[in-house]
Amino acid sequence: MKSLFFLLGCLQLLAAAGAVYKRWLPNTNFETASNWDEGRVPCAGDVIHFDRDKVVSVFVKSPHPVKDMYLPLNGEFILASGAGFAAFDGSWDPGCDSGSAARFGDAEGFAWFDPALWQTAASPGELQQGGRIFAVDEERVPCQYDDVILQPETSFRVNVDSSRGMIHLRSISLMGQTFSSTAALAEYLRGPSAPLQFHGNGTFQVSGTGCPDKSGCVCGNAQDGHRICAALLGAAGRPCPAPACRSPLRPLGHCCGVCGATVCLEFTPDFDLRKYRDRLVQAFLSLPKYAGVQMAISKVHKAQTFLGVALRSSAPVIQIVLIDDQTGSRTGTAAEQMAADIMSDIAQHGEALGISSGKMEVATGSIFSGQTGISTSRRILTGTVVGLLFGLLLLGGMLLLYRRGMLRLWAARLPRPWGRAQGLASPEPASSKGFDNPMFDMPMDTTEPPGAASGEDARQEMALKDNQIFYLNPLYDESEVDV
Ligand SMILES: *[C@@H]1O[C@H](CO)[C@@H](O)[C@H](O)[C@H]1NC(C)=O
Repeated sequence: MKSLFFLLGCLQLLAAAGAVYKRWLPNTNFETASNWDEGRVPCAGDVIHFDRDKVVSVFVKSPHPVKDMYLPLNGEFILASGAGFAAFDGSWDPGCDSGSAARFGDAEGFAWFDPALWQTAASPGELQQGGRIFAVDEERVPCQYDDVILQPETSFRVNVDSSRGMIHLRSISLMGQTFSSTAALAEYLRGPSAPLQFHGNGTFQVSGTGCPDKSGCVCGNAQDGHRICAALLGAAGRPCPAPACRSPLRPLGHCCGVCGATVCLEFTPDFDLRKYRDRLVQAFLSLPKYAGVQMAISKVHKAQTFLGVALRSSAPVIQIVLIDDQTGSRTGTAAEQMAADIMSDIAQHGEALGISSGKMEVATGSIFSGQTGISTSRRILTGTVVGLLFGLLLLGGMLLLYRRGMLRLWAARLPRPWGRAQGLASPEPASSKGFDNPMFDMPMDTTEPPGAASGEDARQEMALKDNQIFYLNPLYDESEVDV
């Protein structure tokens, strides 16, 4: 079931405006058929069972004749006006096998940090489907500057277990009441319904203020990343769907590897995330040739690594994830082309846009000749790894520069002094310039959630070597380069 949510069709539209609303989807309403074990709402003459030991809050919209009803020890019914339970008078209910047992399902399993249980909307009333802008999994769950809506006229039960014990939001709307301060919310949470609606060790911190930074704000769910991926992939640790490229990219905040392209931007104080996203939508995403491309763009904290070792510091960067609907050997190629377009746009206008450097990674499918039908990713080494370069500097005191064909060397402005020159490749894939490295032919393990793997560092290093990486620095004047 949940694997359905991997489908591109379910990717959600984000608000063009600043505020993002996230709506909780499940409910524990009496009239919701899926809340009953038999998949139907009890009808007249049924014997209704609520589990004795299960805590529930149940909203009842309409009157129900009941024959017999077993209630939980701890729970509540919230009755809409006119709703209620009446004794069954023996009258025949058409379309109903009178007298069977109807059992209310288990409402314990719905977790706040399950991305599949949230819907993103640009406005409180807006219902949207599909869309070409999606969010990485961590950002499908409410972020620290989001407005959360638990629909009025519904009951719910949410497990709010969290790593930090604290869930930060801009506002939360419960039973039709919007709370935008922690004090007002605390009063509600002390009331009779809240303990039935929320369980687990998380509490809410509600700020009432949106993201104050025009360059965007980090979502803030990274610490619960493992919880988010566990919910998405199932507690049993179901593997991610088999990717159509052999070395999928691992976007930050996303649970499974993707084929396509990522662009990672460093920015200056001039950068405006909303304007830049609109620019990408207007200039590229809306072009007919990119009709099958979907894009995610957000500010993320990128852990800094040095020689493959994670450092404790992290730097905010803008991450763009591009995926497409191409299949087989063409998987990811439209995304790759759009990423290349974005890179040349940055090369031309980066300074004005507030972008100081960009780095592109690509994972596409392709077919080895003579091996029909097997998708693989092209293995072209077009960039060197910062750590590798520095390692060589350390070892031999020599600077390795390489140019090949269209390769140019630009000074990439990277955060640390040793992160200097990297090769910039022409975005055009040039398979003749690449080579196949049999060492990297082993299938990649994509089953673990990010951060959980012991071999994570090694794998990231491998992924770096496997995928195409491009650096570019728009602040550097191209005309000065002697190519
Ligand atoms: C809350 O509970 C979950 C699971 O029971 C646990 O993993 C998490 O560390 C707890 N968080 C805090 C802040 O105690």
